[in-house]
Amino acid sequence: MSDFQTVCKLSELREGEGKTIAVGKKMIALFLVNGEPHAIEDMCPHMGASLAGGYFDNGVITCPWHAWRFRVTDGTWVDNPRVKISCYAIRVVDSNVQIQLTKPTAEKIP
Ligand code: FES
Repeated sequence: MSDFQTVCKLSELREGEGKTIAVGKKMIALFLVNGEPHAIEDMCPHMGASLAGGYFDNGVITCPWHAWRFRVTDGTWVDNPRVKISCYAIRVVDSNVQIQLTKPTAEKIP
């Protein structure tokens, strides 16, 4: 049984921009890097800003509030690689972007 769920069309994502989606009670930020989608937790672990609204360049999202930076491919906090935010398995099926929320590939480290 697959627990991937469709969250949007690939055509809705743009290089250089984040997109916030709600999946159940979770807010997820989607990004496109060289045509490949990536999904991370949308809420910044510092004070809760939406990461999808930050400055996105070269695979790194910079939080719009205080400039913490996270790599969208694996959730790593660029300035302190021991800390990661959740990122999620993602795939494209028939131009639908699907994510798997049950198994984040990285967890927050307090
Ligand atoms: S809320 Fe993101 S860096 Fe402060």
